[in-house]
Amino acid sequence: MITSISVENFRGIKSGRIEGLTDINILIGANGAGKSTLLEAVYLASAWAEPEDRIRNSIKFDVLVRRRSQRGNWSDFRKFLWYGMDISKNINISLSFKSGKATEFKIPHKSGSFPEDVIFLKINSEYVCPRGHPIEEEGITLGMTFDVREIYRTEEMKFLKGTELIDNMLYYNFELIERNVWPIIYGKRLDRKLIEFLKEGYEPDADSLTYIPITYTAYALMVGLSQTAVRIDDLGDGARTSLAITSILLTMENSVALVEDPEIHQHPAGLERLLSCVLEAAKSNNIQLFITTQSLDLIRILLSFYPSNCKIFALKRSPDGILK
Ligand SMILES: Nc1ncnc2c1ncn2[C@@H]1O[C@H](COP(=O)(O)OP(=O)(O)OP(=O)(O)O)[C@@H](O)[C@H]1O
Ligand SMILES: [Mg+2]
Repeated sequence: MITSISVENFRGIKSGRIEGLTDINILIGANGAGKSTLLEAVYLASAWAEPEDRIRNSIKFDVLVRRRSQRGNWSDFRKFLWYGMDISKNINISLSFKSGKATEFKIPHKSGSFPEDVIFLKINSEYVCPRGHPIEEEGITLGMTFDVREIYRTEEMKFLKGTELIDNMLYYNFELIERNVWPIIYGKRLDRKLIEFLKEGYEPDADSLTYIPITYTAYALMVGLSQTAVRIDDLGDGARTSLAITSILLTMENSVALVEDPEIHQHPAGLERLLSCVLEAAKSNNIQLFITTQSLDLIRILLSFYPSNCKIFALKRSPDGILK
């Protein structure tokens, strides 16, 4: 479990630290307070352990650059991720874990655009990158080739490896979830659970979820109703968003879920069911939750479940980018 996050020179945060993290962490604060930036910082750090985003079929660096606007890629647009576009400084992200271990990642702008070359982890006093290359800074070799396989075996890296960023971009691209998450859902027959969830909360006469072919190469995941069937894409926004969040959480284990504003499109009754499902999945699959929200309903509902391991963090960001 991550117990603290420090961020420097990343997006809207020039410098900030959040500590005392627990199993369920709710991040609140005004628009622009830095909530999403914190989620993105953990996601960026997780790229050391796993550079690919398994759901979006993309490297995490590109996902970060594109996810808010669908514009650009890491190699051309990455400077916008540096606070104040000041690329002379490194982005630094430090994480502490319950085990007492801490990891410190640095991302210099000048490094190449391959995922393996852009993010460094401090080990003792040396920085290594995932390929274990010697690290040079200003012409001086700082570290020697490392056997990074050893690092990947640590509990902390295993925990970071499965990190998922569950955001707006996915709520509107269910095809990605169909393609990359649903094979696991079907393989473990978790579809039954999701049908129940859909029935209780959104579509009372739903009785099945089935892929149907549209052309030789295209298919669609359909929800069977009593008289007809609809594509998942055509469900109400609340149902589709909820299915996206719960499908991903059900396929995760022993890792971190970064859930952005899950209240989007939810009627309070839908939100209550969604949160109950999210908490259940997090508990049974040992998932540490970071949830950003603007919704008082979400907080009220969450607290009505009396979770013993939940904390609410109210964030504030000063005009010069200092997060409190
Ligand atoms: N490269 C950058 N340099 C400086 N500030 C930036 C940079 N990129 C984004 N910002 C600022 O960061 C803030 C956005 O932060 P973030 O998206 O984390 O906020 P949030 O708390 O999630 O807000 P919301 O509730 O609206 O989603 C904005 O005020 C924006 O101006
Ligand atoms: Mg946000």
